[in-house]
Amino acid sequence: MKHLVSINQLSAEQIIRILDRAALFEKNPNQRLLEGKVVATLFFEPSTRTRLSFETAVNRLSGRVIGFSDAATSSSSKGESLKDTISMVANYADVIVMRHFLEGAALYASELDRVPIVNAGDGANQHPSQTLLDLYSIRKTQGQLEGRTIALVGDLKYGRTVHSLIVGMAHFCPRFIFVSPPELRMPEECKDFCRQHDIPFTETSDFSPEVIQGVDILYMTRVQRERFVDLEEYERVKNVYVLNREMLTGCRDNLRILHPLPRVGEIALDVDDTPQAYYIQQAQNGLYTRQSILCEVLG
Ligand code: NCD
Repeated sequence: MKHLVSINQLSAEQIIRILDRAALFEKNPNQRLLEGKVVATLFFEPSTRTRLSFETAVNRLSGRVIGFSDAATSSSSKGESLKDTISMVANYADVIVMRHFLEGAALYASELDRVPIVNAGDGANQHPSQTLLDLYSIRKTQGQLEGRTIALVGDLKYGRTVHSLIVGMAHFCPRFIFVSPPELRMPEECKDFCRQHDIPFTETSDFSPEVIQGVDILYMTRVQRERFVDLEEYERVKNVYVLNREMLTGCRDNLRILHPLPRVGEIALDVDDTPQAYYIQQAQNGLYTRQSILCEVLG
């Protein structure tokens, strides 16, 4: 694997290999495997966990990090093209981890074929490293990836993490419930993907007790304010679902709540100390998974 641009490029075997290696990093995150390597993190869009976990991954593997976390301080604010920025940074770094607001930006950068590109999110399209950490978290909490029933809740239209997660889970016989307001439904192409791969799914706008009681994983998401053209529409849908502790009554013993974070109100604070809450550990798993991804692309 030279680049990690899309989760679609990975076979089940490759996914399992990345997760198995991540499990070794969980046991011992401090290894000198990236000594002498420079990793660039180019974030044209805001990030906390993704950037910091990639950078921690490099630091724990004894590599060095360069980059920017605010495009306003980079030459893109002067009008530099993505092509020039990537070509330049490829002169300095051994791998580029990039997040961009344009869908397809990471693919475009990978086609320049200078150094490995890791997609840390491109617009509403994909977020493959998040999916790998989500898979890691599902396997760890459920004991297996196979045969899980997963509710994806919230902004299924613009949420890139759910788009990638469907594809990543496709190898492991999942069943999905898509819970969203009508305005934020799962895109047709993602539903077509499910149909083509015989993945059963249902769609509803009712975040009901039956949904919560019938699933193994409750994957909550934030309404993606930055992707709305019409901010009045955002105001109408922003608080549409709020999961609270009481709603977990009668849930399966193995139910775990995931969220890629940041949350902006869709999980009430009283959920945090329930046995089902897993989103903070999930973010921790991001460190080990990203260590594994970096080792994979750097061969
Ligand atoms: C997600 C993203 O950037 O798509 N965040 C993350 O990387 N953990 C989810 C989000 O921003 O809502």
